[in-house]
Amino acid sequence: MGAHAAFGGGVAVITGAGNGIGAGLARHAAALGMTVVLVDIDAGAIVALREELPGAVDVVCDVRDPDALEDVAAQVYSDIGPVRLLVNNAGVEQFGYLWDTPVANWDRLVDINVSGVFYGIRAFLPRMIATDSPAWVWNLSSIGGVAAVPLQTPYIMSKHAVLALTECLRLEVELAGHADRIHVQAVLPGAVKSNIFEAAGGVDDGDVGAAESQRAAMLDIKAEAMDPLEAAQVVFEQAAAGEFYLLTQPEYVGNAMSERAAILADRRAPVLRTKQRFDPARH
Ligand SMILES: NC(=O)c1ccc[n+]([C@@H]2O[C@H](COP(=O)([O-])OP(=O)(O)OC[C@H]3O[C@@H](n4cnc5c(N)ncnc54)[C@H](O)[C@@H]3O)[C@@H](O)[C@H]2O)c1
Repeated sequence: MGAHAAFGGGVAVITGAGNGIGAGLARHAAALGMTVVLVDIDAGAIVALREELPGAVDVVCDVRDPDALEDVAAQVYSDIGPVRLLVNNAGVEQFGYLWDTPVANWDRLVDINVSGVFYGIRAFLPRMIATDSPAWVWNLSSIGGVAAVPLQTPYIMSKHAVLALTECLRLEVELAGHADRIHVQAVLPGAVKSNIFEAAGGVDDGDVGAAESQRAAMLDIKAEAMDPLEAAQVVFEQAAAGEFYLLTQPEYVGNAMSERAAILADRRAPVLRTKQRFDPARH
């Protein structure tokens, strides 16, 4: 099945749609003919995007609030229609040594990156199951979901968690007898241009320099990263083809997956690298 056949209509709900990958997915979904519900805490960003995308709807919602997501789901089903695609995309970064990380930054990251995905599933999946139509759920993990990276520990941990959540959820959907209609897929972006590193938390005390030099290293990667619209196109194609792991840069992310598998199979301890740079020539 091509992306037009699978996603040529219906409703797409995308969290964190105001910037970066979410905005790219929203633009591509709209171009395919979907009615896009733009969910974000950044009201200005989703209003601007709604004006650009015909038929789109903007909803200010914090994914940390399960009741707010439940209200969004109820409203979408009553006012717009059944959801064909839910993308649990909202996510934040954090730089610095784990022991310097402010507790509030840890809590914020876990609440958005992990609990936010759970709350999205809890609000939308029962409604998807209750309708007869096919539906897709994409959760945003990362190349970081198959890697160990110092100075970004809360983020990396959260992306491993989202990957595990998504794998288990897929099995649960199959166990409950819905796998023919409900497609659960994990998105693993490699390096895509976005606002995530600027918006990332840092540390107040301790080794501020280490946190900020990691931020600078990641901002360097951004210059060579993929355009979000191009990334969206790749993800939609892979999803329509029935892949489980949706990789923005199949070779780059695929190499990281193979490396992770080999490390675990060989029971090798994590190795510190001087620079974990993104090499565009490899993707
Ligand atoms: N950009 C990359 O290279 C990359 C790589 C791997 C994974 N990812 C993942 O992709 C997803 C999107 O990241 P991005 O890079 O586009 O970041 P981004 O910062 O450009 O966009 C994230 C969006 O989420 C929104 N958001 C933040 N907190 C929210 C909340 N509590 N409720 C609702 N919305 C909230 C922000 O306002 C923003 O619009 C994240 O889950 C990220 O971990 C990105």
